Amino acid sequence: MSQFQFVSRSTEETMGIAERLGQEAEAGDLFALDGDLGAGKTHFSKGLAKGLGVEAMVNSPTFTILKVYNGRLPFYHIDAYRLDENEEEELGLDEYMDGDGVTAVEWAGNLQTQLPSRRVIITFKRTAEQERELIVCTDNTRFEQIFKEFTD
Ligand SMILES: Nc1ncnc2c1ncn2[C@@H]1O[C@H](COP(=O)(O)OP(=O)(O)O)[C@@H](O)[C@H]1O
Ligand SMILES: [Mg+2]
Repeated sequence: MSQFQFVSRSTEETMGIAERLGQEAEAGDLFALDGDLGAGKTHFSKGLAKGLGVEAMVNSPTFTILKVYNGRLPFYHIDAYRLDENEEEELGLDEYMDGDGVTAVEWAGNLQTQLPSRRVIITFKRTAEQERELIVCTDNTRFEQIFKEFTD
């Protein structure tokens, strides 16, 4: 398990790294995002979508749990903030994670489902008005180079 830690100093920077990851992402990749409200999970997801070639506007899926977008690969954007165990079972997360697309889950810490080994776990911390600390844990070596570039 590799760990990376770096600071994003703007929304653009957060979206920029996510866009790079989206460009490199392959079917089955999953980004598990955690951190308080306003920490940057949705902006990161917007960047991912852009990197995947999604042209539609990506918003917070809070009231819908799952939104599907068309890009170079399908992009599944999930918000687990209010997800209870029954809903999670109904949603059948496994199908998305083993599937043909790339998944981003906000509030991933709320999930009971076992995440795939290729998961990228990112914890966002608000350190100042425009500053977020990102802590990345992953076994997915494909993204290592990108994270290294952003590490100070
Ligand atoms: N470095 C940064 N990275 C991401 N968002 C930032 C940053 N600095 C300020 N922000 C602001 O923080 C908020 C993040 O909101 P959002 O992405 O919806 O968070 P979450 O989905 O975690 O609740 C936005 O208002 C954004 O403009
Ligand atoms: Mg959000």
